[in-house]
Amino acid sequence: ATEETLVLVKPDGVARGLTGAILARIEAKGYALVDIRLVEPDRDLLAAHYAEHEGKPFYEPLLEFMLSGPSVAIRLAGNRVIEGFRSLAGTTDPTTAAPGTIRGDFGRDWGLKVQQNLVHGSDSPESAARELDIWFD
Ligand code: CMP
Repeated sequence: ATEETLVLVKPDGVARGLTGAILARIEAKGYALVDIRLVEPDRDLLAAHYAEHEGKPFYEPLLEFMLSGPSVAIRLAGNRVIEGFRSLAGTTDPTTAAPGTIRGDFGRDWGLKVQQNLVHGSDSPESAARELDIWFD
């Protein structure tokens, strides 16, 4: 069924000038851009977005990384877009993400405490609704 997801081009993707290349893949796949904005999130926004990771060893480095620069937030729509975008993105660890995916083609390990993996995509309809509310009010 038609659904929506939240996609983020994270600060590493924006800083490296990969926003256009990432958007080109999303558009080539055929999903619809419903809304898009450049966001400089504050700690409260990120704490809400990453509530499920609070207490994990990478939580603080993750928030520091996400505060390091703007992200591009995208409201994306299409049939099965949640799983479709996650397939485009590839697995979490960019070192081993499959070539042909965004993370596999553009990402790597930079020796930091957090995996800088270029993009985020909601993992379920419930997460998508929650996260879209957080990034688009
Ligand atoms: P994402 O899946 O969008 O949201 C959680 C983020 O935490 C993830 O992307 C990575 O950037 C980061 N992350 C997840 N697991 C680890 C880990 N084991 N070590 C470091 N960073 C991680």
